[in-house]
Amino acid sequence: MVIGSGPGGYIAAIRAAQLGRKVACVEEWINHAGKPKLGGTCLNVGCIPSKALLASSEQFEKAQLHFGDLGITMDNLAVDVDKMVGRKEAIVEKITGGVEFLFRKNKITWLKGHGKLAGKDGANFKIDVSGDGKSESHTAQHVIIATGSKARHLPNVPVDNKIVSDNEGALAFTSVPKKLAVIGAGVIGLELGSVWRRLGAEVTILEALPEFLGTTDAALQKEAAKLFKKQGLTIHLGVKIDGVQTTDSSVSISYQDKDGNAQTLEADRLIVSIGRVPNTDDLGLDSIGLSADERGFIPVDGHCATKVPNVYAIGDVVRGPMLAHKAEDEGVLVAEIIDGQKPHIDYNCIPWVIYTHPEIAWVGQTEQALKAEGRAIKAGQFPMLANGRAMGIGETDGFIKIIADAQTDEILGVHIISANASDLIAEAVVAMEFKAASEDIGRICHPHPSLSEVMREAALAVDKRALNI
Ligand code: FAD
Ligand code: NAI
Repeated sequence: MVIGSGPGGYIAAIRAAQLGRKVACVEEWINHAGKPKLGGTCLNVGCIPSKALLASSEQFEKAQLHFGDLGITMDNLAVDVDKMVGRKEAIVEKITGGVEFLFRKNKITWLKGHGKLAGKDGANFKIDVSGDGKSESHTAQHVIIATGSKARHLPNVPVDNKIVSDNEGALAFTSVPKKLAVIGAGVIGLELGSVWRRLGAEVTILEALPEFLGTTDAALQKEAAKLFKKQGLTIHLGVKIDGVQTTDSSVSISYQDKDGNAQTLEADRLIVSIGRVPNTDDLGLDSIGLSADERGFIPVDGHCATKVPNVYAIGDVVRGPMLAHKAEDEGVLVAEIIDGQKPHIDYNCIPWVIYTHPEIAWVGQTEQALKAEGRAIKAGQFPMLANGRAMGIGETDGFIKIIADAQTDEILGVHIISANASDLIAEAVVAMEFKAASEDIGRICHPHPSLSEVMREAALAVDKRALNI
């Protein structure tokens, strides 16, 4: 029994079915049109819809500001928000329908409703499924909890998804706000802030931490801050939010700036993107002797096993990055463990991508973290500016930086800010999974002209022998 059908749960269900298990998956998601849906946060209100709106807004901005450089002039350029949001909805409909198809293909039973553990029946676990005024009880030999996460809200600031929105509302604005405030300069704040800025909103982001993108390599932080400022995204760091007042058509945020001075930000809309909390409410964990930790996560070991044999937990509801591909990999992992196999995930090789423009992507450790560990390292960096393909497509912002062990040359971290960084990072992930040295990438033939040549040049730069600079 899999509880939750986000990228963790639905992938676990498919892999377990491929391995010959009889699989059911409980899912309670009801979309804004009142229809039950599979796919979880990622497919319904996360990765997929946000990337659809990012693509529309990015193309608009390119047409507006950059097509001229390519020798293309356009008149009467306009934004049709209804159409953009409609396209996003159509993609969500198609991809969530795709999961339904995969469930049918793999003979996975979708139990529609809320799943709750209800103790044991002999060696099996009991799961109650309630929805539509009905409740039924099921049993399973193995349970995979994949209940995901929900947006964290500010205390005393109700989210109505009209004036004050979390990710759900921010993906469904029906018009471009004139002034948009965002609380939290994390991944959602930057991605959705970028969407609405590109479409014409004046966007101000308020961030509590004194550093911008604090967990990324300092070189990325610096470059990203410079580029986002140039694009017109205003980011105030080190703020303390004092209060949020709303009317039917506006919002006023009072805060202290980094110097402790009282400030007020007036806007038409506010997005609250201050992190996410795991979904463990009303899950009946105690009925089988489990409990969430103080932050709401289900404690698991390195192989996603809870302390109760045959019960696993994966994805956003457990430790580690809240990323769809991490959830998917854990889904495959536990299905294979249940099958008696011995799979493994190297959490150091899970890539991150922020889909701003340029994109930001990294895998492994930052230079600052490695230095703090006292590790002897060497680093190479190569700018997109010196790459022929980047010039041709008009994408010369950013760079790739590779960090390697000073003695063994093993790649320890790769940090990219550039167009298509989400695709470029995959080469670095493969290299790190295979414990490659920077010399390996430097010696491998890369297609010309392509942005991937920057990866090779950055690898050569580790040994101070980049060719095209
Ligand atoms: P979820 O996708 O949250 O799915 C959990 C499912 O369980 C839900 O459908 C829920 O209804 C169901 N459920 C919960 N409790 C019960 C219950 N008791 N009974 C029945 N069903 C239940 N990650 C990336 O890697 N790349 C991105 O580009 C990206 N973009 C994002 C953009 C936004 C705006 C947001 C909000 C998130 C984004 N993420 C992205 C994060 C990604 O969506 C999550 O990491 C991922 O969805 C986690 O998968 P999951 O399977 O653990 O949980
Ligand atoms: P986040 O953790 O990325 O960022 C939250 C930010 O809000 C942090 O910088 C934090 O310091 C700040 N913050 C917290 N409380 C605050 C307060 N009271 N006032 C001001 N600032 C405050 O969380 P976010 O953006 O909500 O996204 C949630 C998660 O969803 C991400 O961590 C990521 O795991 C996932 N996600 C992944 C994406 C991707 O992979 N491209 C895209 C979007 C989301």
